[in-house]
Amino acid sequence: MKTANPSSAPLEALFLDELADIYDAENRLVRALPRMVKATTREELQGAFESHLAETKGHVETVRRVFAAFGRSPRRSRCEAIEGLLMEADEIVADHKGSPAIDAALISAAQKVEHYEIASYGCLHEWAASLGNEEAAVLLRKILEEEKTADESLTVLARWHCNEQALGYAVAREASPTEEGERSLSRRSSKHPVAFTEG
Ligand SMILES: [Fe+2]
Repeated sequence: MKTANPSSAPLEALFLDELADIYDAENRLVRALPRMVKATTREELQGAFESHLAETKGHVETVRRVFAAFGRSPRRSRCEAIEGLLMEADEIVADHKGSPAIDAALISAAQKVEHYEIASYGCLHEWAASLGNEEAAVLLRKILEEEKTADESLTVLARWHCNEQALGYAVAREASPTEEGERSLSRRSSKHPVAFTEG
């Protein structure tokens, strides 16, 4: 546990406030992710959301350990940013329900959340290190890396499946499995090299 140092008090107060914010965010995400799992139409995306749900439950526990590393009990402070992003996610799902773009929409909603978490954990990790609390810094770094990996996995899924599906390509592939259909698919694909050259 970190030794009390009066000169670090303002940063420690900021750190603990932001930790309470992300602790609230993670708890909200545990409740929201099952709705996103249910709204997907692709097995790959469903699997990605399910595995991130399991990771998110782990983040709740890890954040509790970070509080403990500072000698504090876990505390939640309402995270209005995540609350807003989750409201937007519900809206985007309602607006695009039944559309081939639903999975692309879900990925965009999930990535907005991931980017908020990456920014938060990035700051928390730096502050824990500045405060000299190595145990907390290591724990926060681990969560940060998992959030980054989750974000990258969503980008791969968007590029290889969901954006194509939103453009109607997957539908064309299933509906017209003829040679001409495949040629026309490859002509359209070549207009979007980013989606087909990486991942
Ligand atoms: Fe998380």
